[in-house]
Amino acid sequence: MLNFDFYNPTQILFGKGRIADINKSIPAEAKVLVLYGGGSIKQNGVYDEVIAALGSRSVTEFTGIEPNPSYETLIKAVEIIKQNKIDFLLAVGGGSVIDGTKFIAAAALFEGDDPWVIMEKRGNNVTKALPFGSVLTLPATGSEMNNGGVVTRKSINAKLAFSSRHCFPQFSVLDPTKTFTLPVRQIGNGAVDAFVHVMEQYLTYPVNSPVQDRFAEGLLLTLIEEGPKALANPEDYDVRANLMWCATMALNGMISTGVPQDWATHMIGHELTALHNIDHAQTLAIVLPSMLRVRKESKRAKLLQYAARVWGLHDGDEDGRIETAISRTQDYFEQMGVKTRLSDYQLDAKDIKPILAALETHRMVSLGEKRDVTLDISRQVLEMSL
Ligand code: NZQ
Ligand code: ZN
Repeated sequence: MLNFDFYNPTQILFGKGRIADINKSIPAEAKVLVLYGGGSIKQNGVYDEVIAALGSRSVTEFTGIEPNPSYETLIKAVEIIKQNKIDFLLAVGGGSVIDGTKFIAAAALFEGDDPWVIMEKRGNNVTKALPFGSVLTLPATGSEMNNGGVVTRKSINAKLAFSSRHCFPQFSVLDPTKTFTLPVRQIGNGAVDAFVHVMEQYLTYPVNSPVQDRFAEGLLLTLIEEGPKALANPEDYDVRANLMWCATMALNGMISTGVPQDWATHMIGHELTALHNIDHAQTLAIVLPSMLRVRKESKRAKLLQYAARVWGLHDGDEDGRIETAISRTQDYFEQMGVKTRLSDYQLDAKDIKPILAALETHRMVSLGEKRDVTLDISRQVLEMSL
């Protein structure tokens, strides 16, 4: 096992009716900015519960944080914070709202002229951030219990990730009943995103880490078993609760302790979203199966372990087991309603060059756990995904 630091200060308030408890987690005198997206929280009652729980605190709202939150939108919130002397942020929504809030929290206290530098430096220059909490409505990204965020600057087609130890939520409310209203597309996206998060941290090479491996395999098996049930019975509380906790555990730092990490699929996926506005999870479903096929040799030991422990494949030759495991993965994404080919999103061979150029611009030229995913490997992956 590799050396590691593990730090995660986020308090989780899990279960039915827990929004009311934010009252105990936000200072009584706080001047709160409630941030949300396009309005789903007004239709499913989440907004009303949040406002009731905030009681007599001074509350300002910032609405319209879009999926794949943009710098252009987020920067407007920084101005509102300064004008209204806001001292606590509350993100209410999915990963986009929470990520956007993290950026705003850091940008509001940033001492340079242009907060976009935070993204250029991937968060290394963040020295403080406003305190914030979240009410999660879409289990997928793990943003509710990690310190990372992804922000798009539309004017230059850049979708970049940042992280900082100052950007953990102080608390996050996870009420599974609030996910009942998710559209089918977002249920599928959530399961696929969480699945690929686990794969990025698990499917690398062995370092003798049985605890992390078995946690990861448990999360994958849970997603495979519970995901389709959520599509079939959207209001099954237990299914939603298990999926919600699964997605959080998939990216809260626990399974990445002491193991190598890949993330090449995510980096290529971010370019696909920036250039073609494809949903985050859809980009992962396109890239991951080909990524595993192209890098089969360097991932062989873990692919065989994955085939055996997650898909129960013990017989036949090694290459056959590996290919079956990858096809089952791809079938699972399709079963969750997430298409797995570039052509499913109306992209073809001529679209590959601009994706590679964007990767180069963003210095994504030696990706993966061994830094050996060159632009040529990314090209092979994309060609295989056509
Ligand atoms: O905007 P509203 O009206 O709220 O609607 C949203 C949005 O249209 C809707 N929605 C959310 N909860 C709902 C609901 N609709 C009905 N009922 C509910 N309960 O769902 C749509 C998508 O929301 P979004 O927040 O964009 O989705 P997701 O949670 O998948 O977040 C995606 C973003 O997170 C980033 C992605 O790159 C992308 O920008 N990621 C963040 C990560 C992190 N912080 O660690 C890691 C991930 O790999 C990922 O990159
Ligand atoms: Zn993701």
